[in-house]
Amino acid sequence: MYGGGYIYDEPNKRPLAEQLAEDPDKLAAFEARIAKGEKIEPGDWMPSEYRRQLIRLIEQHAHSEIIGALPEGTWITRAPGFKRKLALIAKVQDEIGHGQLLYNAAETLGKSREAMINDLLSGKSKYSNVFNYPAETWADVAVIGFLIDAAAIVNQVANAKGSYGPYCRALERICYEESFHLKQGHDAFIELATGTPAQKTMVQEALNRWWQPIMHFFGPPDKTSSHSEKLMQWKVKMASNDDMRNQFLDMYVPKIWELGLSLPDPLLRKNEAGKWEYTDPDWDEFFRVINGEGPCNEERLRVRKWAEENGRWVRKALMQPSDKKSFPVA
Ligand code: COA
Repeated sequence: MYGGGYIYDEPNKRPLAEQLAEDPDKLAAFEARIAKGEKIEPGDWMPSEYRRQLIRLIEQHAHSEIIGALPEGTWITRAPGFKRKLALIAKVQDEIGHGQLLYNAAETLGKSREAMINDLLSGKSKYSNVFNYPAETWADVAVIGFLIDAAAIVNQVANAKGSYGPYCRALERICYEESFHLKQGHDAFIELATGTPAQKTMVQEALNRWWQPIMHFFGPPDKTSSHSEKLMQWKVKMASNDDMRNQFLDMYVPKIWELGLSLPDPLLRKNEAGKWEYTDPDWDEFFRVINGEGPCNEERLRVRKWAEENGRWVRKALMQPSDKKSFPVA
């Protein structure tokens, strides 16, 4: 495990209570910049609550990328055919790269990479609910690649227009790559949905398993979302949880139905006002999962701990001052 904590207001290191009491003039100037659509950059003054919220959100996003590589990663050796294998390897590598970009963005706010990884491994920091579930069949990989990447794009395209420069720039790059992931997931999904009866059954069963986690993905309903109001005011979140969920349903339910597949919700329909109605997913299950009781949480963290421990020598070697580095001569 790493050591290290994080500081709120580099380089002042003022006491926390003092940092949290904001100067009203600075706060007003900051909010005026946000209202004008300006980007906030790492060296700019920002309220400590803005910094804290961004760290929480970007760090959770980064953890989700590296943990999210695991369920699909287990399918690399079993992907059907050489081309699907190549595409999956590339995708899994991209996801780890997204984690790197996002950890870099979070580090600009003053929390060290070491502290973030520690908080993931100790269970203090969350990662996305969807990566708590197993990928039981190849069809699960197709559903993840198509629908979870699609859900992530809905979220990330919106937030890429937000107020914090380093996060927005990371999201822009991530969205390009995610669009490619979505295409590979869509392609695998269509192949199964239009394939043999056994393939169609396999993709239908995967869809049934993943539907509720996907509905949970956008976060709790707006009326119970604890952070949305402030984050939307500060343009960190550019759409509410329910709006993002509705946008996703609008874009992808017709595509699923067109393929002759069904969704495991008898109440799912678009009403006259253009809003999607659905059965409320089980929010107790959601909170159990994100608070550490997800079916694969223990396994996911065990793999990450193994990676941390077995990669320690590499980090140590890289961190040595250059005059102490010795390279083997051939
Ligand atoms: N998975 C895990 N936890 C989630 C979640 C999800 N899908 N959706 C919400 N939560 C958690 C929040 O982190 C928060 O917990 P906390 O206070 O302990 O941190 C709690 O549920 C209440 O939710 P809410 O107030 O709505 O959180 P939020 O304003 O942060 O919105 C997201 C949730 C996911 C929309 C937001 O965090 C976000 O856009 N994150 C960046 C994108 C991302 O992480 N994508 C995942 C991987 S691609």
